[in-house]
Amino acid sequence: MELEFTTSSPEETKKIGRKFSGILSPGDVVFFLGELGGGKTTFISGTAEGLKIKENVSSPSFTLINTYDFDKDGINLKLVHCDLYRIDNLKDIPDIGIEEYLYDSKSIILIEWGGFIKEKVCKEFLEIKFEYFFEDAVSEENFETVNQKRRITFLASDVCWAKKIEMFKDNEAI
Ligand SMILES: Nc1ncnc2c1ncn2[C@@H]1O[C@H](COP(=O)(O)OP(=O)(O)OP(=O)(O)O)[C@@H](O)[C@H]1O
Ligand SMILES: [Mg+2]
Repeated sequence: MELEFTTSSPEETKKIGRKFSGILSPGDVVFFLGELGGGKTTFISGTAEGLKIKENVSSPSFTLINTYDFDKDGINLKLVHCDLYRIDNLKDIPDIGIEEYLYDSKSIILIEWGGFIKEKVCKEFLEIKFEYFFEDAVSEENFETVNQKRRITFLASDVCWAKKIEMFKDNEAI
C-alpha cells in the first residue's frame, strides 16, 4: 500500500512527521529514503516532537546514531535516529551498534539512508521516500516556493504497516 503527500514548507513536513508519531509502536523500524535535502530529518524532528521529546533532533551525521528517551503509557521507550549516509556496506553495521536497537522491543528505530540493510532486516518495516516535487516551471521569482515542494510517499509492504497507514490516513485525531 502507498500513501502520498505533497508539502510546501518544512513546517508542513514536520506536521506530517508529528502526526506519524501517533501510529508508531515499540519495535517499529522505518527507513527514510530519497534525495539529499529531501526533508527526512525535518520529518523525524516532527515525529520526535509528537512523542514529546524535548531535545532538538538534528542529523546524527558524525555519531551515526542518536537516541532519545521518552515515555508512553508509563513505559520508558527509546527513539533511535540513525543516519547511514556515510556507511555503504553491511560489514560496518555491527560496529556502529545498530543491531542492538533493531530487535529491541522498547525501541522505535528511524533510519535515514539505510537502503542497503533493508534486505537484511528480519522483520517488517515501513519505507518513506522523499523527493523534490517540481510541479511548476522554475523561474527566479518563484524559485523559493517551487523549491520548497516535496513529495513524501509511505510504502507499506506488509499487512501490519498497511493497516497502520490506513489509520494514519483516516484518523484526523492522530
Ligand atoms: N517541504 C519541505 N519539507 C522539508 N524540508 C524542506 C521543505 N522545503 C524546504 N525544506 C528545506 O530543505 C531542507 C531539508 O533538510 P533535511 O535535513 O530535513 O533533509 P534530509 O533529507 O534529512 O537531508 P540529508 O539527505 O542531508 O539527510 C531543510 O533546509 C528544509 O528547511
Ligand atoms: Mg538528514
